[in-house]
Amino acid sequence: MLVLGIETSCDETSVAVLDGDGRVLSNVVSSQLAAHAPYGGVVPEIAARAHLENLPITFEQALAEAHATVEQIDLVAATAGPGLIGALLVGLSAGKALAFARGIPLVPVNHLEGHLFSAFLRAGGEPALPADFPFHGLVVSGGHAELVRVESDRISPIARTRDDAPGEAFDKVARRAGLGYPGGPVIDRIAARGNGSRYPLPVGRTGDGSNDFSFSGLKTAMLREFQKRDITGEPVDSASLSPDVVDLLASFQRAIVAALLDRVETVHRSAGIRMLAVSGGVAANSELRRTLSEWGEARRLRVLLPERAYTTDNAAMIAFAGLLHYRKNGAPERAAPVARSRWPLGTS
Ligand code: KG4
Ligand code: ZN
Repeated sequence: MLVLGIETSCDETSVAVLDGDGRVLSNVVSSQLAAHAPYGGVVPEIAARAHLENLPITFEQALAEAHATVEQIDLVAATAGPGLIGALLVGLSAGKALAFARGIPLVPVNHLEGHLFSAFLRAGGEPALPADFPFHGLVVSGGHAELVRVESDRISPIARTRDDAPGEAFDKVARRAGLGYPGGPVIDRIAARGNGSRYPLPVGRTGDGSNDFSFSGLKTAMLREFQKRDITGEPVDSASLSPDVVDLLASFQRAIVAALLDRVETVHRSAGIRMLAVSGGVAANSELRRTLSEWGEARRLRVLLPERAYTTDNAAMIAFAGLLHYRKNGAPERAAPVARSRWPLGTS
């Protein structure tokens, strides 16, 4: 069995081919970073046009790398939301057309659910790990921070961000420091040479006893620290940062990791986490990976980290989530799926 996955929810155009055991035969990601760079963020209209241009090339390449032909594909999985509507429409429509032309099923996939199960995918042609229910999932990306409990037939939300997502905080802070976009990988590298305990930066709780996250206060605190130091966002070379700013950025990263760990620990104490699957672009962060692994070891519970290739947006995770759906529910009804800008995890 071969599954073809299509992801176009934001600014990466991606197509992947997986076999029925979740082996990633190809996962081609075409980034639009350069197209959006002059605007300092993703421009929806440009994203949609770029997907339209890039998708056919990405599609051909994914089939070629998997040594597969379009006639061999048995199932199509395409991201239907949440994301930018114009961008989603490109991939979803292509998926529909392919499924219609070939007479094969199309599974519309929730992008967040794709992230959630991405931790089970292995690199190097290995089959995916079996999804071992129940588990807890932490999805941390540029648009989301979600902590959920996952059972075989249900996803129950536990906590989400009330304002910024952690990746968004990394991106905004990096931009204001003149370090470019995306901010996560740059700050990750800088923080490795800094002292993260030098500036204790608080990350607020919501104040109503919930486990929800909030990162906008931390971002504002950082902007104030930049003002104090006359940092205006002029482009700088990360190698020329002062030791003080390096420590400040390391402390910022430490604060985000500490907030995520704090909430995971709170939930573990009240609900008992068996296994934690971490995912999303921020799951590439070295300090987060190290901290959560050590936390799991200390509590003798399994922390599953995604391969770095599957942390940021990719179609392999979409194909895999589509495959799991198909295995559980069979082919979806013929009702044509629609693109949805909002689609909370755990809702159908
Ligand atoms: O999952 P993703 O590709 O897109 C969304 O669905 O949002 O995540 C992108 C985000 C960006 O905000 C980027 O700065 C962040 O993931 N990111 C990182 C790292 N690599 C990517 N954040 C922290 N540390 C990293 N190493
Ligand atoms: Zn994503």
